[in-house]
Amino acid sequence: MSLKLSHLPSRQIIKPVYPRSPSSIDPNNPPWPAYRGYHEYSFAYATMGQRLPTILGKAIEDVVVTLNQEYDEERIVDLVHCIERMEDLMRELQEQAKLRPIIDDGEADVALWNKLIAKYFHGKTFMNAPWLFAEAYKYRRLQECFSVSKYWKNYDVFFRQKCDTFSRSHDAVFELSMRFAEPFKLKDGLSLEEKTEAERLMFIELTQICLWGNSTDLSLLINMTEEQIRSLQSTGGENLAATEKNILGNHMQRLWETVLTLRQNTGGRIDFVLDNAGFELYCDCVYADFLIQSGLAKEIRFHGKRYPWFVSDVTKKDWEWLLNSMVYGHLFPKASEEEKESLRRLGQRWKQYEKEGKWIYEQHPFWCTGFTFWELHNEAPDLFLHLSRSDLVIFKGDLNHRKLTYDCAAPPSTEFEIAIGPMASAAGAPRVCSLRTIKSDVVVGLGPDGDELAEKLDKEEPGWKISGKYAVVLLSEGRPGEKVVFT
Ligand code: F6P
Ligand code: MG
Repeated sequence: MSLKLSHLPSRQIIKPVYPRSPSSIDPNNPPWPAYRGYHEYSFAYATMGQRLPTILGKAIEDVVVTLNQEYDEERIVDLVHCIERMEDLMRELQEQAKLRPIIDDGEADVALWNKLIAKYFHGKTFMNAPWLFAEAYKYRRLQECFSVSKYWKNYDVFFRQKCDTFSRSHDAVFELSMRFAEPFKLKDGLSLEEKTEAERLMFIELTQICLWGNSTDLSLLINMTEEQIRSLQSTGGENLAATEKNILGNHMQRLWETVLTLRQNTGGRIDFVLDNAGFELYCDCVYADFLIQSGLAKEIRFHGKRYPWFVSDVTKKDWEWLLNSMVYGHLFPKASEEEKESLRRLGQRWKQYEKEGKWIYEQHPFWCTGFTFWELHNEAPDLFLHLSRSDLVIFKGDLNHRKLTYDCAAPPSTEFEIAIGPMASAAGAPRVCSLRTIKSDVVVGLGPDGDELAEKLDKEEPGWKISGKYAVVLLSEGRPGEKVVFT
């Protein structure tokens, strides 16, 4: 039977109002519209449709190389099963299968993952779940391919590539080590003001080195030539000055004032939520070294991932590899003796910081979940409490920025504090800084004229949001010192 509804009001166009009210926000309904794999206009589409299958295909090839070098039958059979699981994942990705729960492989994050899937993504596929979640889920499933095995639980399919980013960065690595191997010293005879200004200038340059270190992440630049790497990593002063204009939201001066205040209070605790291994991590450490030497910080906590994540993110193994290969490795056969020595000294100093407890490496399970950082307060209260005791939390890179901002279509003029929600507004929220080269759709914090600027770039430079040419350095004051409350 069909009803003729001629006496009722006609159908209306109902537009949802953004940002959503806090009570109606959840992982499937971010404050502004989510990016999803089927949105052809967004980077989500290219990532879910092409980049992820390519990355997975390359990972399978790499495991096959390992397989061909193995001799023990049990280990071989075990690895063959890992490859089969990877192939299943590839099929699911390509057929846009529904997201199934994670198998209990003993990892500390299984319950968090399965709660998320059951509550918000039941019946959702790789393409219609929000992009951030679907992409993170793929990396969790990749981990599961190995974690349920007997012999390959700790296998890192991306490890070789991560090591390569460092050894292929010869010029930039030594450019920095030759400047920073010796503890830095300010010229004699400077007044207090001149000293502070000299330190400010160093701080600004090193912040940029740390920032632009993020433009060479592996998930995007797998086929880059040496020449392209060199130009992206150019750390000379002139290049930095030229690229400063590409920092579209720039709170660097406020950041300097923040750390300077920390020193006046006998040096603070600064946390780095790390992004990529290899060259980026090296830049992070150069920056952290300066923060310690200058007395701006007295303790640095580095937060890495518990297992391989988004291709190039730092794990404990990557951390140790970097420090140890700087001291003991033979990665740079073409380097001069002076260059090798500079790298060795730098590595020795950093290892010493670790021994003295000035540098601490941590790996909370929350960092490898599909939750955004809007949920950190509720889903990982221990971590929130821990971070609330920091004087400044620096989030590195694109993915961390996506998680801070809920990876949704907020207008570019949205203030950073608003875009990161509870990470700025919850009682006890720490000061948060995002150092991010722009490599995906979400862009906020561009100031009152940000919407026009973004529109102009959309017209004049399509692809500006994924090229890594532009960046943001954004700071939120948070509510430090207030008592953290959980409801
Ligand atoms: O695949 C998407 C993505 O998260 C992009 O946002 C970015 O290109 C890359 O992966 C990771 O970038 P980063 O290492 O800077 O977080
Ligand atoms: Mg990364």
